[in-house]
Amino acid sequence: MSSQAAASIPQHGSAAEFAWALLRAASSLAGQLDRGKAFALFAADAGEGLRRSPGERADVVLAWRPGSGWESRLPLEDPRFELVNLYLPICSATMARPMTIGHLGQSLDGFIATPSGDSQFVTGSDNIIHVHRMRALSDAVIVGAGTVAADDPQLTTRHVPGPSPLRVIFDPGRRLTTEFRVFTDRVGPALYVCGRAHVAPGETHIGAAKIAVIDGGDSGDEAAQTLRLLHGRGCARVFVEGGGVTVSTFLEANLLDRLQIAIAPVLIGNGRAAIRLAPQTRLQDCRRPSYRVFRMGGDVLFDCELNVRADAVEAPAPGTVHRII
Ligand SMILES: NC(=O)c1ccc[n+]([C@@H]2O[C@H](COP(=O)([O-])OP(=O)(O)OC[C@H]3O[C@@H](n4cnc5c(N)ncnc54)[C@H](OP(=O)(O)O)[C@@H]3O)[C@@H](O)[C@H]2O)c1
Repeated sequence: MSSQAAASIPQHGSAAEFAWALLRAASSLAGQLDRGKAFALFAADAGEGLRRSPGERADVVLAWRPGSGWESRLPLEDPRFELVNLYLPICSATMARPMTIGHLGQSLDGFIATPSGDSQFVTGSDNIIHVHRMRALSDAVIVGAGTVAADDPQLTTRHVPGPSPLRVIFDPGRRLTTEFRVFTDRVGPALYVCGRAHVAPGETHIGAAKIAVIDGGDSGDEAAQTLRLLHGRGCARVFVEGGGVTVSTFLEANLLDRLQIAIAPVLIGNGRAAIRLAPQTRLQDCRRPSYRVFRMGGDVLFDCELNVRADAVEAPAPGTVHRII
């Protein structure tokens, strides 16, 4: 679906908490329901998040449809509607239908950090919570070596309830030194993906992070090998969190199913770029994916479905201007 109006995402308060409990339950039930191959209805449950409903009743909030996944039954006026709407497609991904999602928080002029790598924070706190929610719904989170070098991130879900994903450091050229937190903190599993030429015989770990070897190739091949390796470890939902070079590599290699770009009202002027792809001569050859728009505090999130073209869905009437805030 393509949408022109930006829905506001409530990241705090009781509606957000109820919606998040429901989404976490939907996320963890998806694999089992997919294997069951049966249509099922669910009502919200104070303890478990969701409980099966025997039929179409007024308290039904979600339906599971074999082959496609979750559908919301919440009415538009329900305060949980928008949060559930944003994350439900991700909760539907399973090993049979894996999903890889890229995210960047960028300035109005298309940068994710200053030239020195300062990026804390381009977007506001609601988008930071969104990133933590995306981690909690994902089996693995990938970051590039430049992000580890600049931010020394933990890649946990400390701002929201939910499990932390496998932390994956994509560094084919083995550029990183060993002092970063993902190698030393032991707060969760970490996988260090680097090229075979850079791994010594018998070397299995860097600190607490396990080494995963990929063969040489162009950067798209390296990204594809990384994704295959993660699918082989049972990771159905993979979140590519940055930086710009890494998200662009996955995008250029057609490995992303969704691309989320949060635009913040700031002008950085110059610095680390967001998405950069091979140039096209003709504008008509550039991708125009289907998208949804969500308001997150002062930022606007474009949630793009890359395998659906915008012209394949209903277009807004020409000349229509929607006030989105
Ligand atoms: N706003 C956001 O959403 C967001 C999210 C994540 C990160 N960030 C910011 O984005 C920046 C990183 O993104 P990025 O696109 O530059 O890189 P990246 O995608 O994180 O990592 C890949 C790039 O980093 C380079 N690199 C490898 N080791 C490095 C090192 N030790 N020091 C510096 N660069 C190294 C790689 O060069 P080689 O190919 O030559 O190895 C490659 O070009 C950081 O400033 C981070 O704070 C912002």
